[in-house]
Amino acid sequence: MAGGVPGREARRRALVFPLPFQGHIDPMMHLAGALHARGLAVTVLHTRFNALRPARHPEFRFVEVPDGVPADVAAAGRIIDVILAMNAAMEASPAGVRAALASAMLAGGEEEQEAERRPRGAAACLFIDGNLLAVQRVAAALGLPTLVLRTGSAACLRCFLAYPMLHEKGFLPPQESNLYTPVPELPPLRVKDLFFSPVSNHEKVREVLARITESVRNSSGVVINTSEALEAAEMEQLRGELAGDGLPLLLAAGPLHKLSSRSAGSSLLDQDRSCIAWLDTRPPGSVLYASFGSLAAMDPGEFLEVAWGLADSGHPFLWVVRPKLVRGCDSVQLPDGFEDAVKGRGMVIRWAPQQEVLAHRAVGGFWTHGGWNSTLEGVGEGVPMICRPDAVDQMMNARYVQDVWGVGFELEGELERGRIRDAVRRLMEGEEGAEMRERAKVLRRKVADCLESSGSSQIAMDKLVSYILSL
Ligand code: UDX
Repeated sequence: MAGGVPGREARRRALVFPLPFQGHIDPMMHLAGALHARGLAVTVLHTRFNALRPARHPEFRFVEVPDGVPADVAAAGRIIDVILAMNAAMEASPAGVRAALASAMLAGGEEEQEAERRPRGAAACLFIDGNLLAVQRVAAALGLPTLVLRTGSAACLRCFLAYPMLHEKGFLPPQESNLYTPVPELPPLRVKDLFFSPVSNHEKVREVLARITESVRNSSGVVINTSEALEAAEMEQLRGELAGDGLPLLLAAGPLHKLSSRSAGSSLLDQDRSCIAWLDTRPPGSVLYASFGSLAAMDPGEFLEVAWGLADSGHPFLWVVRPKLVRGCDSVQLPDGFEDAVKGRGMVIRWAPQQEVLAHRAVGGFWTHGGWNSTLEGVGEGVPMICRPDAVDQMMNARYVQDVWGVGFELEGELERGRIRDAVRRLMEGEEGAEMRERAKVLRRKVADCLESSGSSQIAMDKLVSYILSL
């Protein structure tokens, strides 16, 4: 880990406030770990909804923020609805957020100091998830600079900034007739690859993205969990697109999980580590790891097809079947006869230590929904991928995996066991899969180079820490 910051400045404090969903918590906690490793003190703001477990992070201070998410919205757990409800509640009564922020702005053990005076050791800045505009507004009123962590790709942020234009030009909302139309402003994306949620009202999605854009434009800097090795052109374009906003910083500092390792600590579900011992018994490169992130869901019929497709592939597999993977089912039942059919060859678990699994020598392929964290984790270990995007940014991530980096392919169309069997074999066997594997190894090396001490991601972290210390 490069660049520990000794001396007086090392006691400056950064506050971090992740959006309370797994795919947003993990990168923010990795950023917190990376800042801490460079000598900064860190306070984590968190909500009761999907609360973090402070005992797992003794190196950080924690402050709870009232989230105001109504019980029915929390129980349904739909991300777009939770984001809107949380922001609305915080804007309607900002006093709770203000009190929590004011408390967090003081250094640990120095509660008697006044936040406004910014004593040595008190907070220099607040990192927020781009979805927390309401928190940014309260921070601004307290005179606390905010930086935004974008947990998706640079291409994804470009898509958000372009969203009004995409509507004006008629690309969005998508129509059956224009799905394969290229979007010349955002190559290589087609209409079907743009950020979209089939389960949320489109106007709500527009509102969420407009608010992210506002939080980015109002911020003192943006850190994107990406790498110049993956998205140099997209970063360059973003610099041009945001130039007028006078942002002091726009940094590609990722993959953040490679700068600090604390995934087990921020996991909302308990990781089943028994799969590591199982993987230890398998030959190198033989196992397909199948996992669809923390939110994606499928119909019961699709679930059956996935189960039998994996079974019919003949390959060893490790499959994460988390609660609610099947729409409307809190706990998911495997089909009759499945366990006997895959005995000794297939393992099903509720939640995996994913980064460790992908780094295991036995894993030779990754079937993913293409969430940005999963994509980065697959790329970071040089594992080729089958992408089955479900919603939001996953379609564009799949486009990059297939058409930009060439380290996998998208499984399109109906989920049917024969097509799944063929896709698994395409990835795990034969020439095409071998080529993807080779390209994945090359890409892993390029991403790793950016993480070396003179690499672009480390330089980005150096700039970030210097900037924080200058505040
Ligand atoms: C969501 C969207 O899917 C994603 O596209 C967006 O960028 C962030 O919000 P999620 O669906 O959870 O995230 O997917 P992903 O971004 O891949 O994050 C999932 C995280 O959970 C990964 O860091 C992964 O390592 C972790 N995970 C997943 C586990 O630790 N264990 C598992 O069994 C499965």
